[in-house]
Formats: sequence, C-alpha cells, structure tokens
Amino acid sequence: MKKKKVLVTSALPYANGPIHLGHLAGAYLPADIFVRFCRLCGHDVLYVGGTDEHGVPITISADRQGITPQQVVDKWYPHIRDTFERAGISFDHFSRTSLPIHHQTSQDIFLRLHEQGLMTARTQRQLYDEQLERFLPDRYVEGTCNFCGYDQCSGDQCEKCGKPIDPLELKTPRSKLSGSTPVVRETEHLYLKLDKLQPRLEKWLSKPDKKYWKENVLNFCRGMFKDGLKERAVTRDLSWGIPVPLPGYEGKVLYVWFDATIGYISSTREWAEQQGDPELWKKYWWDQKNTRLVHFIGKDNIFFHVLMFPATLMAYGHYVLPENVPANEYLNLEGLKFSTSRNFAVWLHDYLDRFEPDPLRYYLCSNMPENRDTDFNIREFQAHNNNELADTVGNFINRTLTFINRYFDGKVPARSTLGELDRKMMVWLSKEGISDDVGMFFDTFRFRAAANVFGEFSRFCNKYFNDKAPWKSRKSDLADCATTLNICAHAAYAMSVAMFPIMPFSAVKIWKQLGLSEKWEDHPWSQDYSAKIPEGHKIGPVEVLFPKIDDEAIADQEATYKDNQQPQKEEPAKTPEIAFDDFLKLDIRVALVKDAQEVPKSKKLLKLTLDVGELGERTVCAGIKGQYAPEALVGRKVLMVANLAPRKVMGIESQGMVLAAVAGEGGSEALGLTTVDPERDLPPGTRIS
Ligand code: MF3
Ligand code: ZN
Repeated sequence: MKKKKVLVTSALPYANGPIHLGHLAGAYLPADIFVRFCRLCGHDVLYVGGTDEHGVPITISADRQGITPQQVVDKWYPHIRDTFERAGISFDHFSRTSLPIHHQTSQDIFLRLHEQGLMTARTQRQLYDEQLERFLPDRYVEGTCNFCGYDQCSGDQCEKCGKPIDPLELKTPRSKLSGSTPVVRETEHLYLKLDKLQPRLEKWLSKPDKKYWKENVLNFCRGMFKDGLKERAVTRDLSWGIPVPLPGYEGKVLYVWFDATIGYISSTREWAEQQGDPELWKKYWWDQKNTRLVHFIGKDNIFFHVLMFPATLMAYGHYVLPENVPANEYLNLEGLKFSTSRNFAVWLHDYLDRFEPDPLRYYLCSNMPENRDTDFNIREFQAHNNNELADTVGNFINRTLTFINRYFDGKVPARSTLGELDRKMMVWLSKEGISDDVGMFFDTFRFRAAANVFGEFSRFCNKYFNDKAPWKSRKSDLADCATTLNICAHAAYAMSVAMFPIMPFSAVKIWKQLGLSEKWEDHPWSQDYSAKIPEGHKIGPVEVLFPKIDDEAIADQEATYKDNQQPQKEEPAKTPEIAFDDFLKLDIRVALVKDAQEVPKSKKLLKLTLDVGELGERTVCAGIKGQYAPEALVGRKVLMVANLAPRKVMGIESQGMVLAAVAGEGGSEALGLTTVDPERDLPPGTRIS
C-alpha cells in the first residue's frame, strides 16, 4: 500500500482549567484511536495539538482570580499536557498559542488575507460597559438568542443552536462583568469577507468525497449556506492576544477564533524546528495531493473548522484542506452538559488518580457520542470493566497463558490437524478477519462499532476455549490440546493488536506476557495473525490484565463529582462597593442579652430581649436556635443593627438584627454570634463604627 501522510488535529482546549471526560470523548480519544490505528497501518502520521491561550475565556478566568492571563495559561498548559499524556493521548507535538512562532504564523496569514483584499474595515457598533468604562468582547455579553430564544446565550456563539451570534442582535443583553445593561459605542475593526468566499467553500463541500462526512456537519453547513455567510470581524478591542499587525490598529488583537485553528500549523512548525528541519511542516500542510488532514472536534466547533479555517487556508493558497471533520456530539453527565466554568464535570486527572486509563478509554469508545449525545454513567463504566474486560478479555488471555505455563512449560505448543472449531477461529485470525472488520470501522471514524466487533471477538475466543475444553483433551488427545493452546496464543496476539488503538497500555502488557516485543512498530495492522508465534516460543510472566473495580472505588469517585456540583468551589462573588455615607446610615450598637427563649414551632429562631442603653429595650429574632443554649446567652454582649425597620417573624415583631457570622446561599446558615471584646467594659448602647 502506498504510504499516505496523515495529519491529525484535536481541538485546542482553552488553557483555563482541567480536562474533563466530555473533552476526552469529544475530540481527543477518537483522534488518538485513529492515529494509533494509522500508525500500525504504516502511514506517515503526525498528530498535533496544543492549548488555546488567547481569547476571552482566559481573560475571564484571570479577572476572576485577580491574576494575569499569562499566569492563567502558564498554570494550565503543563497540567493539560501531562493529563493527556497520562490518558495515553499520543500527540507528536503539543504546543501553545502564546508562543512567538504562533504569533508570527497568525500575523503572516492575517496580512496575506488583508493584502488580497479579503478584509473590510468597518466602524463597528460595539457594546460598551459604562460602569466599567470598557468595550465588551462577545463573550463578556450574554442575553437571549435571537435565533432560538435560549436565554443564557453567550455573545459569540449560542450553546443551544450552535449559530454564531452578533452580540448587538441579542435580546436583553447583559454585561457579564458588571451585570449592567451595555450601551452601543463605535470602534473600527477588520472583517473577513466570508460572503465572498462562500462560492469556493460550497464548491469544495459539494465534491463527491464529502458524501461520507457526518450528517451533523453537512447539515450545519447547508444551513449556513442557505442563510448566506456573513462577513465576520476578525479583530477585537482587547489587550490579551496577538497584536493586529497593521498601522492604525494599535491596541487591538486578532479574534481568538482566527488565531486558534492556525495553532495547528504553528504546532507543526514548532515540531519541525525541534526535528532540526524547520521547513518540514510544509511536507504535511502544503502537500495537497498526499496529505489526509483530519480535524477532530466537538459539535460546537463546526463553523470554525469547516467554514472559517478552510476559507482562510483556501485564500492563502498552498494549504491542504481537511479530508474530514468528524465532529462529535456531546458526552453529558446525568443528562447535563459538562461545564468548566460551572465546575460541573468529571475531571480526567481525578479519574486517573484512581483508575487505569484503558478501561475508561474502552468504555468511552463503546459509548462515544458519535451521532447523538450520550451520557457518562459510572456504574456502566464499572460494569464494562468487570464484565467485558475482566471477565472476558482478561479472562481469555489469562486462562490461555496460565495453561501454557502449567502444562507446556511456558512454551507455545505445536499445532497439528485442525477441526471445525479451529477453522472458525482461523477465519477471525486471517488477514481478512478481525483486522479488516475492526480496521474498516476505525478508518471511517465509527469507533463504537469497532469496539463492538472487538467485544464480539473476545466473546468468541472464550467460547472457543470452553468448547475445545483443553483441560479434557490434555488427558485424551494431547495433540488437540496443543493445537487449541497454539491457536489461543495467536488469538491473544490478534486481540492485542486489535485493541492497541483503544487500549494501548493493555496491548503492551499482553505483548510482554506473550514474550514479544513491547514496541508497537513491531506489530503492524492487517497481517495474518495465525502464524506469528513460532512453536516452542517462551512466553513471559503472567499477570492479571484488568482487575475488577469494586463498589467502594466507584462510590469514592462518584463523590468527587457530586462535590464538584456544590457552588462553594465557585470564585467568591464580588459585592458592589458602597459609599462611606451609606455605611454611616447603619446604627450598630452594643446590646446586652437580658433574656433568650426558643420561638415555638420555629426550627431556627431564638427570641432575644436586649438592653440597648439609651435606646431602651428591644426584642429581636435571631436564626441561631440549635447553635446556643438560650440560657447560655444571657449576660453576653452582642452587636446589633438598631435602625433596621421592624419586621414580623413568626408572629413576633423583631426590632433590629443581631450580627452573626453566616454561610450558605444568601447567608442562610448562622454560624456564631459576633460578641463584644470581653476585656473592655463597653456599656449597652455604645455606638459602633
Ligand atoms: N478552545 C476552543 C474550545 O475549547 C477550541 C479551539 S479549537 C481550535 O472550544 F482549533 F480552534 F483551536
Ligand atoms: Zn440559539
């Protein structure tokens, strides 16, 4: 087969938080499975990625934490890179978009498009936050989607219907920074003439090979073409990002979605430099004839990868266009979308602290959101591991190797005459068997189907072992027993190669147990598996491949993401500033507790009688029942707001409020009363300020 160059990319995650299982199942695991498969096929594969380090998601994180955007991305880049490595995502290069090489690459492409007259300068009306005196980038605005009516629609793209949004069209816009209603002001920006590029895009997407693209991708594009592509602003009023390389645009940066996809190219350039051959990247990106470019993304990225980035590349010239963009739907958690900003997720690094990566990869592959959203379910994950991996795959490998060890001195025995069952197994092991069946699905991005066939094969292997019953033939027909174990060893080998793309760590373990090379280069795809292991070959030490996962470990992991759902992990909300005069309006006094009684039928309230000196006696209801025995309060000095308008609570008029430390939503839970320094004899009624 003619060697093909395969250039594979996975969406660049924003460097503002950890990777969750939704990311993994969407754009990384499928890419990695495909890449490993292509490598075994002997193709010249390059798999590039990196972090997306510009854009408003980064500045929002920085603002929230009170640090710089650079600090945010410096913290998350190594974390994300290492987590992918632990999960076995085998990038050839993992770069970052804040590097100079990426700034140069992006500016060069931007200028070339500008020179070709593909950009229009327009004075833009943009939303401006008057309270904070700044322009609001799209992502800093939210409101109601003008297409589908989703009421938490972000100003750049609607999470619900996927359409790109013009924030000026949003109904009831709000500033995400101050919550105020923004006003419209003027600023000059450059627009990419996507409308002019539409005919070329349409022509490209109507080529016959696009018939095999996923329906969700094609439908999305059809819809966009029907409405007509609009020109799109590619510069922004922001201080974090790639400077616009044109006079008159000082202080403005490139739109993050213009630069992010170019990150794939810059990552390849950086890789080439590290190979000592800085021009090597062109061998992939500029060979339209021989390179298969495949972008793995989630469905919210379709517009940018199928329309905007290809338009940019076409206009520039030389570049290869994607052969396919197998966009996935979402993996949800209990029916809801994973969300980094809301901390609602199963974090991949948490997961890997407890479990091996392979069972997760296998479960997610079987449950991949290829054509519809799927749900992550930890019990299902456990069942998959225990039933399909431990009891089926692992069991077959283990009983085969243990048998060879025990009765054949650890050496693969010779094979003689084949019976009917043996011949059935030989079909699976032939070149056209398991390898074509699974390979065809990998090659066409049908990963769920690939996992299914693999599962079927492993069940067949166990049945073969059972039906041939070598523990019986050992006594009655030793030649047949030897044949069975010889064939089982080959089946174990076939299984290991077929599983390598999905479960690379376990495949290597099997090679080791079979006494074979642990390098994937030595185990090409699509071979006749039936004659790979010579007679008398000594196998390696045997170990359990897939330990069972018990309920306790599952409950423990489950607790971490249930915890994640508590709002407590969110950044503390900033309260608005108040003027000094406002503060002075509060009349806070020392008050002496004269009497304390439980309020009948109330879970929370104590009724306090307070001596407030010159202001006389006050009755106040306080939500501290259960925290203090009423009699223990008598004689203590507390602080109270004395000029709060009286309020009826549980039939009692409460004439003020005692101060207490509180927690929970809106201060719903009282923790303890604020008392007065006992070392000073402050008389009741003394004013606090
Ligand atoms: N950072 C984007 C996201 O998480 C994806 C960018 S993909 C890229 O949605 F190629 F444009 F970088
Ligand atoms: Zn919408």
